[in-house]
Amino acid sequence: MAGAELIGKEEIKEVMDVMETGILMRYGFDKERKGIFKVREFEEAFAKYCGTGYALGVTSGSAALKVALAALDVGPGDEVLVPVFTFLATYEAVMEVGAIPVMVDIDDTLNLDPQEIEKKKTPYTKAVIPVHMCGSAANIDKIMEVARKNKLLVLEDNAQGCGASFKGKKLGSFGDMGSFSFDYVKTVTTGEGGMVITNNLDLYHRAEWYHDHGHDHNPKVSRALEGRTILGFNYRMNELQGALGLAQLRKLDYIVAEQKKNKKVIKDALAQIPGVKFRNLPDPEGDSATFLAFNLPDENQAQKFQNLLSAEGVDTVCYKRNLWHYVPNWEHFLAHSTANSKKYPFTDPMYKGKVEYLRENIPQAENILGRTLVMGISVKMSAEKINQIKKGIEQATKNF
Ligand SMILES: Cc1ncc(COP(=O)(O)O)c(C=O)c1O
Repeated sequence: MAGAELIGKEEIKEVMDVMETGILMRYGFDKERKGIFKVREFEEAFAKYCGTGYALGVTSGSAALKVALAALDVGPGDEVLVPVFTFLATYEAVMEVGAIPVMVDIDDTLNLDPQEIEKKKTPYTKAVIPVHMCGSAANIDKIMEVARKNKLLVLEDNAQGCGASFKGKKLGSFGDMGSFSFDYVKTVTTGEGGMVITNNLDLYHRAEWYHDHGHDHNPKVSRALEGRTILGFNYRMNELQGALGLAQLRKLDYIVAEQKKNKKVIKDALAQIPGVKFRNLPDPEGDSATFLAFNLPDENQAQKFQNLLSAEGVDTVCYKRNLWHYVPNWEHFLAHSTANSKKYPFTDPMYKGKVEYLRENIPQAENILGRTLVMGISVKMSAEKINQIKKGIEQATKNF
């Protein structure tokens, strides 16, 4: 649960600053807001934290993906490479801008396999979206190398890896753009919310225009007189979200440090299971430790061990069977059940490619995810709770 576990007086203070002015919108009302610009402050602090030039607050992690893709000029006729293990929003965002998501296999990091990029690339491929699932990095250096060699744009979906890094550089800051989610279960939460980061000023401007109906945000004129740039929509973050984000961001390093401590104790207990292996972390130091993933030699053993753990009150997820994070389980997506009756973008005449979402195209995910069990790590884990988990693991291991 991360950030949600720590909501307290710091968040209340920031939110009250906004309530006292009564100005909930991030733009305009300069006289009435008495110098309070929480979203702007949050963006500046977030960009600094990530080591990037620019950050743009938006309404959700899903919106962040869409705004970034629009800024990158990904659209009809384009294909985008997306790992098979991710939340549905990564695929939906690609379709929202009229492009086609292409399913890509994972490696033992549980994230996009860099070697798959050249195998899945076609003349229509414009971008790749590595997703740092469950708070830990993909092989992002290799992914960037292959993407650059093949002239593909990179958008990092870092919804789940806020605060994580790879060799000292924050995840989300490697690609042309990076996106984050601050929904209620994320490492930093604003209830709902998201962020787009980039080092490219042109991309930042395009994102900023697109997320606010094309407003050019000219500080010299009133909002009503601002210039219009590109057509967009409304994905603006509001001041209450900005206020929450500021308080939560100050707690981020503490959150990660506590999760790391708790994860280590549980990992040591799990290491006693015969045949157990842990997810490959390309940079263990940079792990945000939001989740702990371990695997057993085969799917049957993993299922048996999961049941034994469950009987001891220890919950784990097997993502191969999860309904929301594994493409082969999304019946509505596979059936092209779009909200529009035309099944756009799958039927778009501008799209000249052919896409299939077959299990035989993702052998590594089928193998690894079926054997992998994932446990959520909390920030606040009392000694009693940790002991209970350790005892549960010991008992399950005895009965295995
Ligand atoms: C990998 C990934 N991408 C995108 C999102 C979407 O974020 P949001 O819930 O803020 O729209 C999520 C949310 O769980 C996610 O896990």
